[in-house]
Amino acid sequence: MSALGVIGGTGLSQLVYLTEVNKRVIKTPYGEPSSALTFGKLDGVDVIFMARHGYGHTIPPHKINYQANIWALKEAGAANIVAVTTVGSMNQTMAPGHLVLPNQLIDYTWGRCSTYFEDDLEQLVHIDFTKPYSVGLREQMITAMMEAKVIALNEAVYACTQGPRLETAAEIIKLRRDGCDLVGMTGMPEAALAKELKLDYACCAVVANWAAGLDGDEINMNAIEASASEGMLKLREFLKALVKQIKKAES
Ligand code: HPA
Repeated sequence: MSALGVIGGTGLSQLVYLTEVNKRVIKTPYGEPSSALTFGKLDGVDVIFMARHGYGHTIPPHKINYQANIWALKEAGAANIVAVTTVGSMNQTMAPGHLVLPNQLIDYTWGRCSTYFEDDLEQLVHIDFTKPYSVGLREQMITAMMEAKVIALNEAVYACTQGPRLETAAEIIKLRRDGCDLVGMTGMPEAALAKELKLDYACCAVVANWAAGLDGDEINMNAIEASASEGMLKLREFLKALVKQIKKAES
């Protein structure tokens, strides 16, 4: 049975509910991943966990070695990857504490190593990125969300900003005009790199706050933490339901 990869972001630097846990450092041609990988089991399914910002939560979004992270997960045998990411919301129906499964994204980042296909090429490679997230994995995730009975919406446009600062109120107005619903800092180039390596990758966003300018004069970091923790409890139920789906699909 293939392993489920989980990349944890802010608020999720460990999956405490795994059993038979061990950690292994994977070497990659792209340098060091953010963290050693944690191998374990969830209801009998192999899970491989990576802490995107490192176990001590010290690597800022623009300094993450996304190439090494995705490579390491593939090398370790993760066929599916659920990328967990905390986000701000600019859509009234996606409130703090909710889980959302985006189906589209817009990339506003710059200066990040965003492809495996740049050196020593025999020919240019342009992957199709019309649908940035795996359709099949998203279907399983949507079913899992319904089974886990967690409040979740399954269509949203995710804006990936450069960070590490949060946005200005005017930037959020622009992102809304662009058609974005959620804003975070780590979704790209992660999604594109996973697609280049032909992995089934999809995003589970945990809404931590209303985006800049939508709820008062400034964003309260304590409130972000509280909403992210509420979302992470739902995530646990969701992941349990997801491994059931994976078992069913493979039996
Ligand atoms: N903006 C960008 N990234 C985020 C936010 C936000 O408001 N909240 C959590 N991650």
